[in-house]
Amino acid sequence: MSTGLWIILDHLVALLGVATWFAAGVTLALRRTRTAFALLVAAALVTLLRVATVAVLAGRGWWYVQEKVLLGLPMLATAGAVAVLLAGRALLTARRGRADVPAYAVVAVLTAAYAALAGPVVTFLVGYPLTVGTALIAISLVGAGALLTARVVAPAAQGTAEAGVAAAAEGRPAFSRRRFIGWTGGAVVVTAAGAGTGLSFLPPESVTLGGGRPRSSRPAVSVADLRGAGSPAPGGTVRRHVLTAKKATVRLSSGREVDAWTYDGEVPGPAITATQGDLIDVRLRNADIDGGVTLHWHGYDVPCGEDGVPGLTQRPVRPGEEFAHRFRADQVGTYWYHTHHASHVGVRKGLYGTLVVRPRDGQRAAEPAAAEGVDLTLPVHTFDGVVVIAGRDDRTDHPAPPGAPVRLRLVNTDSDAHRIVLAGAPFRIAAVDGRDLHQPGEVSDVGLRLPAGGRLDLVFVMPDAVVALVVDDDAAGGLRLRPPGDTAGAPRLDNPSDLPELDLLGYGAPAAVPFDPRRPDRHFTMVLDRGVAVVDGRPAYAQTVNGRGHPRIPDQLVAEGDVVRFTVVNRSLETHPWHLHGHPVLVLSRDGTPSTGSPLWVDTFDVRPGQTWEVAFRARNPGIWMNHCHNLPHAHQGGMMLRLRYDGVTTPFDGSHGGSPRHGH
Ligand code: C2O
Ligand code: CU
Repeated sequence: MSTGLWIILDHLVALLGVATWFAAGVTLALRRTRTAFALLVAAALVTLLRVATVAVLAGRGWWYVQEKVLLGLPMLATAGAVAVLLAGRALLTARRGRADVPAYAVVAVLTAAYAALAGPVVTFLVGYPLTVGTALIAISLVGAGALLTARVVAPAAQGTAEAGVAAAAEGRPAFSRRRFIGWTGGAVVVTAAGAGTGLSFLPPESVTLGGGRPRSSRPAVSVADLRGAGSPAPGGTVRRHVLTAKKATVRLSSGREVDAWTYDGEVPGPAITATQGDLIDVRLRNADIDGGVTLHWHGYDVPCGEDGVPGLTQRPVRPGEEFAHRFRADQVGTYWYHTHHASHVGVRKGLYGTLVVRPRDGQRAAEPAAAEGVDLTLPVHTFDGVVVIAGRDDRTDHPAPPGAPVRLRLVNTDSDAHRIVLAGAPFRIAAVDGRDLHQPGEVSDVGLRLPAGGRLDLVFVMPDAVVALVVDDDAAGGLRLRPPGDTAGAPRLDNPSDLPELDLLGYGAPAAVPFDPRRPDRHFTMVLDRGVAVVDGRPAYAQTVNGRGHPRIPDQLVAEGDVVRFTVVNRSLETHPWHLHGHPVLVLSRDGTPSTGSPLWVDTFDVRPGQTWEVAFRARNPGIWMNHCHNLPHAHQGGMMLRLRYDGVTTPFDGSHGGSPRHGH
């Protein structure tokens, strides 16, 4: 069973525990002794079951259980054991008809119920990591609950024979003893709660070193000075564009009209293409996008000053303003560009386009016209629930002569993954996220996962029958490649959703990698979860990284040349497509299973619920880089983003990503 399912099962068992403990407490208070006894036994059994689910999860990784093992379970086990001893004995006595159930038994069982509730509440509100402050607050709340319950429940029992006998046996009035316990207990609870609250307000660390050297006193360089080359490589040309961001009404081929935000009035924005070594020279203007826009080159390892992150590498481009990007197209492959300002709104509304760089050597073979091949760039985007695959088309036909080499460049511009099926021809995945795979084998009858922000280049030779590209198993939509003259044919495609998903970690053949990832200079762990955290200065139910939200997640400090390793753990119930700017990362393993196929270099990898990914990269592109979830609402509203900062690099901007609309400039 997957870790994601165990996480869900554990939540359910925890909730069942809360329900049974409360039911036992309430029935006991009502003196329904038979039911109470049965429920008490059930609560104890569910608690034991919980120990088992937590133990399984602990085997999957400490991150999944830290707060449960250190706080939730010990608290519940202690309170539960006391409750079973006190209430169990009292119930057995009562069943023999000898006495009423004493008040302390009710208090003990209800206290166990509060302890059972405190565990999931801490998991839900705080998650990973548990801090001393949180633990103190949780324990004091359970203590306060116990004291209050005693006050409410005990007077009812005061007149009972047993209370009187007990008081007499001790030779003093029961009342003053209870008052003593009440006062001391209250004082302890208040002190613990105060200390815990104080601890939670300690300012967070601003930087984490990942086990590497601390910040040096290197002379600082500003990101604003880390700019691209001014001229193409010898033999290259200048690819000049002016992109004007503006609002426009766009008509999809399905007939639907959308109020879009566009680059140049089009969705997607103008396709930018280049040959390796060309100079890309793009001037971004903003006509009327009020909050501002930028251009971020997703997956393209531009110098940091060209990266288009508002508040970090530049100011957002306001209406009437402009920003000039210039960089060399040294990196071949399929990429895309999009606004990084309030991108959870802007990208969804249409501020994106594609960037494709073809190799200079063998350029003739790769140029479609020269080889009579077909080379299509297909940004997949969802407008108001309609998935468009090529520009504005949700369903489109394209001619392809039999025997022609075909390359389909898929780009996921949405915030959720898409599933891709290619039917009618065996194919290879030539590249992932723009980077070529090593000896990719031919496959057919498989589903492919295209993470948010990710790209896949599929190549095949056109057969003399129709080939279909299907998105999200919607066999009616997508792309058809048709041999000339074939107007009606369609490939056999019964149940696309039945096809197994191809695991890229085992695809292609291994090859040497340029560094030894087993001996990193820095190692950072990012545990992704949900919880209450401060995001952009306000408390929110955030998407957290190590319990915090942007910009209060510590910066990851690296030095140029470092081999850096990331462990990314998803404790939440949602997928987080993780994306580092400025560097591709090499996938090492997923859930402890090493990558055995071609070296897999990606800029976005889907960390599904319960998954743990290990990736590594070499730090060789100085700057301050965003490191975030590419489910854009998670990043911008949820706070799931942080910075990777090179030692000695500074920013003249305010340093926090200014992409949130409420951040107001
Ligand atoms: Cu495509 Cu920071 O994003
Ligand atoms: Cu996310």
